[in-house]
Amino acid sequence: MSYEIAVIPGDGIGSEVVECSMPVVEAAANACGVSFETTLYDWGSERYLEKGMMMPDDGLDELREYDAIFLGAVGHPDVPDHVTLRGLRLEITKGFKQHVCKRPTYLFEGVTSPLRNYADGDIDFVVYRQNTEGEYADVGGREYQGFENEVAIQSALYTREGTESIVRAAFAAAAEREGRLTSITKSNAQAHGMVFWDDIVTEVHRDYPEVDVERLLVDAASMDFVRRPEEFDVIVASNLFGDILTDLGAGISGSMGLAPSTNIDPTGEYPSMFEPVHGSAFDIMGEGIANPIGTVLSWELLWDHLDEQAVARALRTAVANQLAETSAPRTPDIGGDSGTEQVANDLRARIE
Ligand code: NAI
Ligand code: MG
Repeated sequence: MSYEIAVIPGDGIGSEVVECSMPVVEAAANACGVSFETTLYDWGSERYLEKGMMMPDDGLDELREYDAIFLGAVGHPDVPDHVTLRGLRLEITKGFKQHVCKRPTYLFEGVTSPLRNYADGDIDFVVYRQNTEGEYADVGGREYQGFENEVAIQSALYTREGTESIVRAAFAAAAEREGRLTSITKSNAQAHGMVFWDDIVTEVHRDYPEVDVERLLVDAASMDFVRRPEEFDVIVASNLFGDILTDLGAGISGSMGLAPSTNIDPTGEYPSMFEPVHGSAFDIMGEGIANPIGTVLSWELLWDHLDEQAVARALRTAVANQLAETSAPRTPDIGGDSGTEQVANDLRARIE
């Protein structure tokens, strides 16, 4: 069987890391006898500046038939962030019911954590972030713009389908891993949506009695990410909290450039989308020094999702071996002086 994968490199370092990672991914698939074809889409901010839209009107119909989608990142200095994000990534995640954003955080051997006394896999947890609603729902409005009585309303939205999907995915993962789940909310202050969330956790827990559930408020959880990250295993959180906590997770495990992400439709009705956690990184774009590893690890998660475990393993092993070997090429974000391409070439050579 041959897989069809849509690739949207996007903006800034998004396109740099995607381009450099493709030969690595091809080498891994070849080595495992898996064949796949990619179709490139030039959707993103350049297109917006030219045509007024990040992607075409019928973009979702176009993507619908692929086995999976790979996205670099979006974000451009000349386009407001809410336009780039809403016009492409949120359009796809919401349209394709990709309720589940799974983001592993792992401190690889050979990578230095800013936390003292952590090394070699001491930090190893997975965040399940609700990906289609919550605080990122497009619900609200502005009135009396520019007047003294100006008002802005931004409402969070929690549906049973969206909440239950993410909570179930997290329980299933916890049952497979160490049997521990941490649900992170702010139910003391958000007494409607997040208490509803808590109720769903209680309900789904009945189906997974073997899983121990810990409940934390997001402020305390942020402190515990720094104070006792080794105690987390599977975490479930709302869209906004999961977004923030996974940047923190990337920080404590060495670099934003190492962090992978997924946008999964748990029903399999629509294709799922894979992407590094990071954005287009205005501060380093065009310099050729972005770390491609978060992207390569996102491809690992794509192949894992398609159940091509050998390809997934080949990518992960190459990354783990490269990072463990401190003389191997590495990008400046993790203390090296190599470029994106050198790191990718070295990964490819390890696989071949
Ligand atoms: P960012 O993730 O692009 O960058 C944050 C910091 O991490 C920067 O200092 C950057 O240099 C560093 N960094 C990120 N990826 C790296 C890599 N692969 N290698 C080395 N260093 C790396 O977040 P920022 O700066 O807040 O946002 C820039 C733009 O990206 C904005 O337009 C934002 O809206 C967009 N964005 C898009 C996302 C997406 O497409 N999924 C996700 C996050 C931000
Ligand atoms: Mg983020």
